[in-house]
Amino acid sequence: MALLPILHYPDARLHTRARPVVKIDERVRQLVADMAETMYAAPGVGLAATQVNVHERIVVIDVSEDKTGLIALINPEIIELRGEKICEEGCLSVPGIYEEVKRAEWVKVRALNTSEEAFELEAQGLLAVCIQHELDHLDGKVFVEYLSLLKQNRIKSKLAKRARITV
Ligand code: NI
Repeated sequence: MALLPILHYPDARLHTRARPVVKIDERVRQLVADMAETMYAAPGVGLAATQVNVHERIVVIDVSEDKTGLIALINPEIIELRGEKICEEGCLSVPGIYEEVKRAEWVKVRALNTSEEAFELEAQGLLAVCIQHELDHLDGKVFVEYLSLLKQNRIKSKLAKRARITV
């Protein structure tokens, strides 16, 4: 097990479109385990492979309070969206920034698990938001891109300032 370094916005690598996983082998299972460990340590409720600079379609999510609800989605695809919900979101790649984003309220997703079995998951509430947020990462999209350009620029300069202080 290993903690993986997380890319921070506005790192251009966060805008890479991830490719599908071809074979779910020991390497992929190890990556899922390391991503889960990295997410729990952060702490966060979701992490996409893109955020650890691996550009393959893999996400881990756990929205449970006791960290017993780990879900790994490999090659996930949203097959149905319903309703609308505005929710305040944050992201491990955009530390300290929380902004409201409009998402679907309900989502149905199809994916493979680490045993290479296909499954479908229906989600609402926090889990639905999290799934949409993480799948965006796989397409190279960070949640702040839903905000106005003015807000995006403010966030960029805030994070740049913070980076200068910490180096
Ligand atoms: Ni994120």
